Amino acid sequence: MNYLQNIVRSEPNVNVKLLNYLPKIGIGSAREEIFTGLRAKQKYIYPKYFYDGRGSELFEEITQLEEYYPTRTEKKIIAGLTKKLYLDFSGLNIVELGSGDCSKISLLLEQASREELKELTYVPVDISESAIEKSSVELLKRFTLKNVTGIVADFYCQLNLIPKNRNRLFCFFGSTIGNFNAGEAKAFMTSLGKTMQPGDSLLLGADMLKDINVLERAYNDKKGVTAQFNKNILNVVNNLTGTEFDTSDFEHYAFFNEKKSRIEMHLRAMKDMVVNSEPDREAITVRRGETIHTENSNKFSADDVERFGKWAGLELQKILTDKNDWFSLSYYRKI
Ligand code: AVJ
Repeated sequence: MNYLQNIVRSEPNVNVKLLNYLPKIGIGSAREEIFTGLRAKQKYIYPKYFYDGRGSELFEEITQLEEYYPTRTEKKIIAGLTKKLYLDFSGLNIVELGSGDCSKISLLLEQASREELKELTYVPVDISESAIEKSSVELLKRFTLKNVTGIVADFYCQLNLIPKNRNRLFCFFGSTIGNFNAGEAKAFMTSLGKTMQPGDSLLLGADMLKDINVLERAYNDKKGVTAQFNKNILNVVNNLTGTEFDTSDFEHYAFFNEKKSRIEMHLRAMKDMVVNSEPDREAITVRRGETIHTENSNKFSADDVERFGKWAGLELQKILTDKNDWFSLSYYRKI
């Protein structure tokens, strides 16, 4: 595909460029991927499908819940980063994978000087075009940057599309790596390591193993926002594939799987149903009590964090944590 065809919007006066690479994965692939999951023995929907406009809004709401400690804890670590770690911001491309809203990157940019900011390029990479647009505009209200190049892509398989013109600081915040299973995490870190060049570095947020009660509370909040977020994935699936799931036929189910060291989120069907889907294929059925697995959120140890670096061929420079060791932010460099 022609590079220029991907430019969705380019506004020279504010130096925002938005490149959409999602069509490269192929139209219809989301549909297929979703139906494959719904036909599996243990039904599943990938968590990347949480984040339509409404899903992103609900996730932001989750991050502000009293029970949901990760975002708050990680932000504190980011805000104190340059006191603990020397970061050279000069002439960098800051690439944020799964950028979502711009609150975390703002905390980082606050620690750079005006001169450094003027030479910085921010490269948010996200599957949601609206999230990138909104956050770029917000960010440019607060900081004078050289430019913003937003990339709409699935960073799991499209890392190679990220510009390599300058030294890059990759930011992969939020413990999004926790959504991957072990094989996927290894594949992802390996390919991230391969695209990184000497002089590039990585800040990786990882949620740590802790008291089960704290973990389970964080995914079963009193207000039921997490439940709404979980159920909204069915609306996204309806829009993408033409299914007619009714969210009120499902209940939110989240628990800590000790053996696998992860929170699992599921949607449990409260009645039997037939999903009218692909006209020329056998219908998909969901039984009362059956679950659709929507998310894994792995919880890590310091060993895991070291292993990530090894997979990527990166040198682990420092692991920063909060006072409870609930969340970690690790800094790695490509040598
Ligand atoms: C964005 C994947 C890190 O696993 O905690 C929050 C998503 N799901 N509440 C997480 C989420 C339910 C979140 N991550």
